Amino acid sequence: MTELKNDRFLRALMREPVDVTPVWMMRQAGRYLPEYRASRERAGNFMGLCGNPEAACEVTLQPLERYPLDAAILFSDILTIPDAMGLGLYFETGEGPKFKKTVRTEADVNSLKVIDPKSDLPYVIDAVSLIRRELNGRVPLIGFSGSPWTLATYMIEGGSSRDFRRAKQMLYNSPEVMHRLLDTLAQSVTVYLNAQIEAGAQAVQIFDTWGGALSHQAYDEFSLKYMRQIVSGLIREREGRKVPVILFTKGGGQWLEAMAATGADALGLDWTTDIGAARKRVGDSVALQGNMDPTILYASPERIREEVGRILSSYGSGSGHIFNLGHGITPEVDPEHAGAFIRAVHDLSTAYHT
Ligand code: CP3
Repeated sequence: MTELKNDRFLRALMREPVDVTPVWMMRQAGRYLPEYRASRERAGNFMGLCGNPEAACEVTLQPLERYPLDAAILFSDILTIPDAMGLGLYFETGEGPKFKKTVRTEADVNSLKVIDPKSDLPYVIDAVSLIRRELNGRVPLIGFSGSPWTLATYMIEGGSSRDFRRAKQMLYNSPEVMHRLLDTLAQSVTVYLNAQIEAGAQAVQIFDTWGGALSHQAYDEFSLKYMRQIVSGLIREREGRKVPVILFTKGGGQWLEAMAATGADALGLDWTTDIGAARKRVGDSVALQGNMDPTILYASPERIREEVGRILSSYGSGSGHIFNLGHGITPEVDPEHAGAFIRAVHDLSTAYHT
């Protein structure tokens, strides 16, 4: 395997010394980039991009051509698992993801099988191998999956939801059915992430986008428990290097200690938690990734730079910080502003590393 030319992302995840703070952006390959919109047009639609390894590879690399990012993230979607389970994922323009079939009854849950990534999602695994080869050691490649709870919300609701009415109904009325669904998903996520790691992913992130919608008790029982199960089943070392695991619960700032206790290497923070305070709470048990409000990218480059400086100073000196947005970059952001953000992280962070 090719030697990594830039490994500061992996080093920061392991809290090893770095020259500058590494940076990448959630949703870095996406609609704010005109070259992404052109590729999507050529592929026909979003699923055409995800389903074609060459196209997925092309859009994964687009943000790296523009910006000095320290990591690449596989271009795909968290909803490939429910699609592989037979739910029929499709996207309606402007309306987000939708499923042809939903999972609402005990019989629906019992009919679901743990996926076999190599036969059910070959296009994702092939995309990982291809991207890894094309990256040629430039930066590490991140693989990802949704958390069981987050995937379950889409499968039960049949798409995005404001209040998770049906998912909460199952959770409160039939917790044993919900647990069976989450267990099938946790097993699927584990084999899926391991297949991505075997194909060349050098770190993995679990997106628990809707964990923050759960009550305090329910978060531990219905989301964290299954992420713990996944973390304990993952390949943690490959090609002579640690394969770090990042847990990101949006709205999870109150649960950082419990999240760190899962054995994950790093926690993703949204923008509602102060990163300096978070660092004091988790000590040196995990690295922290985040956590600039993504809407600051609508402000001026000067204001963006000031905010980067504020977050770097709040985290303070030393390694263990991966700069990121607190959630995905939005389609209306000016690509120049994203560039100003990334440059500011590298420029201003030299002062925090010796
Ligand atoms: O970060 C990256 O650059 C990698 C690609 C990536 C996508 N989706 C591409 C995508 C990743 C990591 C995801 C994860 C994902 N998908 C999550 C978790 C992260 C988060 O944002 O909270 C969730 C909840 C989904 C489900 C999903 N996919 C939704 C709700 C939507 C519609 C909303 C939207 O932004 O359009 C998608 C579609 C999607 N996934 C797009 C992209 C680039 C936009 C589709 C398009 O091009 O029209």
